[in-house]
Formats: sequence, structure tokens, C-alpha cells
Amino acid sequence: MRQRAADLAQRLRRSSAVHVVTHIDADGITAGAIASETLRRLGKQYTIECVKQLDETVITKLLNENHELVWFTDLGSGISTQYPEMNKVITDHHECPPDSNLSFHFNPHLFGHDGSYELSGAGATYLVAKQVDGHNTDLSSLAIVGAIGDLQDRRFCALHGLNTEIVKDGRDAGVLHTIQDLRYFGKETRPLAKLLQYASDPLIPGISGREDACVAFLQELQIRLKDGDTWRTWVTLDKDEKRTIISNIVQMLLVKGFGYQTATRVLGESYLLSREQPGTELHDAKEFATLLNSTARYGQYEVGLQVCLGDRGKWLKEALSLLKGHRHNLVEGLQFAREEKIQKRAHLQYFHAGDGIRDTIIGIVTNMMLNAEETDKDLPLLGFAHTENGEVKVSARATQALVDRGLDLGVALTKAAKELHGAGGGHNIAAGATIPKGKEEEFLDLLESNIKTQLAL
Ligand code: C5P
Ligand code: C5P
Ligand code: ZN
Repeated sequence: MRQRAADLAQRLRRSSAVHVVTHIDADGITAGAIASETLRRLGKQYTIECVKQLDETVITKLLNENHELVWFTDLGSGISTQYPEMNKVITDHHECPPDSNLSFHFNPHLFGHDGSYELSGAGATYLVAKQVDGHNTDLSSLAIVGAIGDLQDRRFCALHGLNTEIVKDGRDAGVLHTIQDLRYFGKETRPLAKLLQYASDPLIPGISGREDACVAFLQELQIRLKDGDTWRTWVTLDKDEKRTIISNIVQMLLVKGFGYQTATRVLGESYLLSREQPGTELHDAKEFATLLNSTARYGQYEVGLQVCLGDRGKWLKEALSLLKGHRHNLVEGLQFAREEKIQKRAHLQYFHAGDGIRDTIIGIVTNMMLNAEETDKDLPLLGFAHTENGEVKVSARATQALVDRGLDLGVALTKAAKELHGAGGGHNIAAGATIPKGKEEEFLDLLESNIKTQLAL
């Protein structure tokens, strides 16, 4: 694997101009930032663009542009065996087509590692950047933000596999440190009650989703909610306060019969960017990733990219303002999905958001819906949404338990989308596709028969 990374590094060194194509989520933005910074340090000419997916329109445009070399990051594995006329390198972690173990293709799946949790797109890009120059280890913190953005810590409540090598590089380079801490989102910036209100993995029975219950719970534990006029956040609590809250949440889960395995998910490894200001959206990898999702998913990838590359002025300000909109859209999206109601079939469940949820955040909402208390966890969940081009975007999510039983959404969606002349791909636990409008029922039928076979094997 290291040799393959070195081969890609060599191809990059030999080129004079490189065009980077990356994905519009946090992993894609960090991957793009690592790639462009690596090229800048090499003194190469480079350009970059972010795309939702590699469909025919994007590929045709790239072919017409006649680039000396295209560097695909956090996508590209799906087309790795096609378009031999395009000179390319690929650093990706999505499931690969057969016969794609090619000299310009770097992907953990080709070397026996699972790209859904062992290495992200940013991580794959980072490993090549490190082969380009050993000094590039300062970019490891961006690779970790990418992995966390893709929820790669979810399976073991900590990063795993090849990701741990990157964490070690980050520590050695002085850009990253880790602590065992509460796993909920927003420890640096969210008021305490909000942190608990949105707690979803694991849900806190009787507390998650209810602001008044969160306030009452904290007051009962005699935790002050405010310091003067400012809402207190998790990171400002002292050790005893944190211990009290954690042990009470764990106890509540156990008393309600959630079991030891669920209760231990309250705690896990947190990844902190040592050079960032504590108490900001950039200090904790989870919050940094969400900040990036607020930019590129709304067509503003330049904003996220500049923040990754170190801007703490006008671009950061813009990112923070986009974050407000993103939060609002997620709350509204979740509300909308709840009202739409989930339709159940024998081997899957789905909801159709129509024009109600943007195609670029339907994946996040589908994930949140699957996590919700009322949702059946024994069936994979699909969310449909209309795209601007008059097509239909579909996002699919499953639990680890279903994956352990043989489910592979990446394979199932790739196949079903292909039959309908759409484009799909992804991982065993999370996948997506774009299909023609009106083909939803047909897609569900195809998918269902596929899933049924996977789970029967
Ligand atoms: O395109 P990409 O590979 O970057 O996205 C990975 C997707 O997989 C993310 O949307 C992430 O939320 C999802 N995922 C998940 N559960 C996991 C691992 C990944 O939903 N355990
Ligand atoms: O878009 P969504 O978050 O649902 O995507 C889930 C996973 O499927 C991501 O890893 C994404 O990159 C992948 N995907 C893909 N091809 C598509 C749509 C999504 O590989 N057409
Ligand atoms: Zn990714």
C-alpha cells in the first residue's frame, strides 16, 4: 500500500499542472485542501473543483478541458477502470469496481481495508501527501477532520485501522491530541441544554429531543447553566460536573434497559486540533467537520477550503454565517421528514422529501432519521429528494448490525442505479445514487430484491 502511495506521489511530482476534483462534503473538502496544499508546496500549478458526484456531465467536461493530470480525491474509484484517455490519479475510499487495482489508484479496499471506517478520502489523500514529502504530516489534522466528518469513529467510538496511523502522525507533529470524553456533538460551542437536547448516539431516554427536560435534568444535578450572561458549554465544566452528568446519563440508560453496550457509547475518543483556539468551531474535529459541511453542500466550497488552508478572517466569518443556515436547514429537514412519515416495505423503509429537503443534505437527514427513537433499526432507511436537474437523489443508511449480517448498501445501490441508467455508489453502511424522476418504485423493487439476497447469504 505504501508503495502504491509512493507511485502516485511520483506521478504528481512528474507533472507540472494538476487539476483536483473532489467531493462536496467535509471529507471531500479536507481531501481537496490536503491535495492543493501538497501541490502548492511542490511548486506546481493547480486548480480545484468540487462536485456532488462523478456523472457523465462532469466527466465530459473534464475530458474536454484536456488536463495534463486530474487528481480525484474522495471520489473517482467508481470510474477508475474507465476513460483511459484521461491521465489521472485517484485517492478515494469508496467501494471499488472489479479489476480496479491499477497503478494510479489508491484506495484502502484494494489492500484489504474497509473504507467505511479504516480510512477516509482525506486520509487516503494524506497518505499520498506524506509520500510526496515527509514534512506534510502537519496536514494529518485535516485528514482526521475528514474521517470524523464521514463518521468513521462510529463503529468503535474511536478511529480505527489506518486512521490510527494518521492520529499518531498528528500527535507527533503537534497538530492533534485526543481525550476520552463525552461523544455528543457541540462540546465546544453548544449551550449545555442544547448539547443534551440533540444527543442522538446514544439517545438519552426522556431527555433527547426535549429542551425543558434537559434544563430540568441539569438543574436537578445542580449544574449552573450560565456564567453571567453566557451559556456554559461542556468544555467549561469542571471534572466533577462532567463526571456527574456522564454517570447520570449512563445510569439512566441502564435503568431503562438499554444495556451495557449502548451505555458505554456515551464515552469515546475526541479529536482536538491543538493549534486551534479552544471553545471555537475549529477545535474539535466533529464541529470543524460540520462547519465544512455548511459550506460546500451549499455550493460555497471555496469558503470551506480557505478555512482548511488556514484563513481565520473573512472566510471563517463567512463559514460561521453559513453554519447558522445549515443548522436551521437540518432542524427543518428533520421536521419535514418526520411529517412525511416513513413507509415500510419487507426489506427496507423510505421517505420521499420531494422538494422539501435539499439533495445535498438528504444524506445527513436520513442518518438522523435512522438514529431517531421512533425509527425501526432492523431495516435500512432510504431518503429521496428532488435535485435541481430534475432528477432524484437517494441516500441510504443502515446500522452496523445489518452490515454485520451481510448488508452492503454500496453494492446494492450501485447495481440498482446502473439498471436505471443512474449513478450510485458508497459504502456498506451508507450509500447514495441519482436516478431519473419517476423511477423510484422500480428502484425500490430492484434494491429490495438485492438486499433480500444479501441478508439471506
Ligand atoms: O462520500 P463519503 O464517503 O465521504 O461519505 C461517507 C458517508 O457515510 C457519510 O455520509 C457518513 O455519514 C456515512 N457513514 C455512516 N455511518 C458510518 C460511517 C459512514 O452513516 N458508520
Ligand atoms: O449522498 P450521501 O451522503 O447519501 O452518500 C452516501 C455515500 O454514497 C457517500 O460515501 C457518497 O460519496 C456515496 N455516493 C456515491 N455515488 C452517488 C451518491 C453517493 O458514491 N451517486
Ligand atoms: Zn469520504
